Amino acid sequence: MAVIPQIDDVPPKPSPLSGRDCLTLAEFTPEELALILDEAVKIKAMQKSRIPYRPLRGRTLAMVFQKPSNRTRVSFEVGMYQLGGHALSLSPQEIQMGKRETPSDTGRVLARYIDAIMVRTFDHGELEELAGAADVPVMNGLSDTHHPCQALADLLTVREEFGTLEGVKIAYAGDGNNVAHSLAIACALTGAELVIAHPEGHGPDPEVVEAAGRLGAAPVLAGDPREAADGARVVYTDVWASMGQEAEAAERKEKFGPFRVDEELMDLAAGDAIFLHCLPAHRGEEVTAGVIDGPRSRVFDQAENRLHAQKALLYLLLS
Ligand code: CP
Ligand code: NVA
Repeated sequence: MAVIPQIDDVPPKPSPLSGRDCLTLAEFTPEELALILDEAVKIKAMQKSRIPYRPLRGRTLAMVFQKPSNRTRVSFEVGMYQLGGHALSLSPQEIQMGKRETPSDTGRVLARYIDAIMVRTFDHGELEELAGAADVPVMNGLSDTHHPCQALADLLTVREEFGTLEGVKIAYAGDGNNVAHSLAIACALTGAELVIAHPEGHGPDPEVVEAAGRLGAAPVLAGDPREAADGARVVYTDVWASMGQEAEAAERKEKFGPFRVDEELMDLAAGDAIFLHCLPAHRGEEVTAGVIDGPRSRVFDQAENRLHAQKALLYLLLS
């Protein structure tokens, strides 16, 4: 009978990322980002082989949600459980960050009870305020301007598909939003080549573009999604109206129509190109059902990779 290794009791090795925050990914060096991805691959392999790995026994994560979630909530909670720890989810009704209590008081109090904080909120400044006051690792589970945990899963998915990130062309078509920003920073740190095609007035924040340039390479900006898709190995899109922009949804539908990812756009990409979307998706808006449910789509692998990437992040920040 095969002996299954029990590595439950191995003490966590000191991590070079111990105690750090993850608010944008720009806080990491290329080597540190590579370490997170390498660790994610190992943790995923252990999970797939059903090898127990519980280095975070007795540790607790607080998850503060000011916006709805499926993937972020479930993957962080399950990930923390699988690593031997515990996660508790705090809804907008409970914390009411910025209304009932300042973000900094929220962070200081939570840090007295728990070992790490994950926050999903609107204003990125609130997240920075909370992180500045909490002396435990704080992770951004999505703000209006950044979604770093999503970008970790995105890169993991691309690396699994092509074996490398260096020089892989990624075409992002649509809104220059939180997902596009984090992808830009992640690509800058890993050598993937990002082209963002966006309608006029909906490009990424110039400060993020500049930051990506300083970190490695700024994304190329385009007005035509066909230019972005040309020869790309990855075609990526996200919703046209993000959480908090519901009032603009109708107006955005008009503007963003030419940026829909359809079969014709995918045909301009490389022969082995894959389609990614952070989800939730709106079939018939930013992507056709034929593409997202077709053979080139990796969106559910990408969603699964949130779990493995975040487990690596939790382990490295908390060990
Ligand atoms: N992609 C993502 O963050 O999904 P949720 O909004 O469901 O967490
Ligand atoms: N840009 C989207 C991503 C959702 C995961 C939003 O912020 O709503």
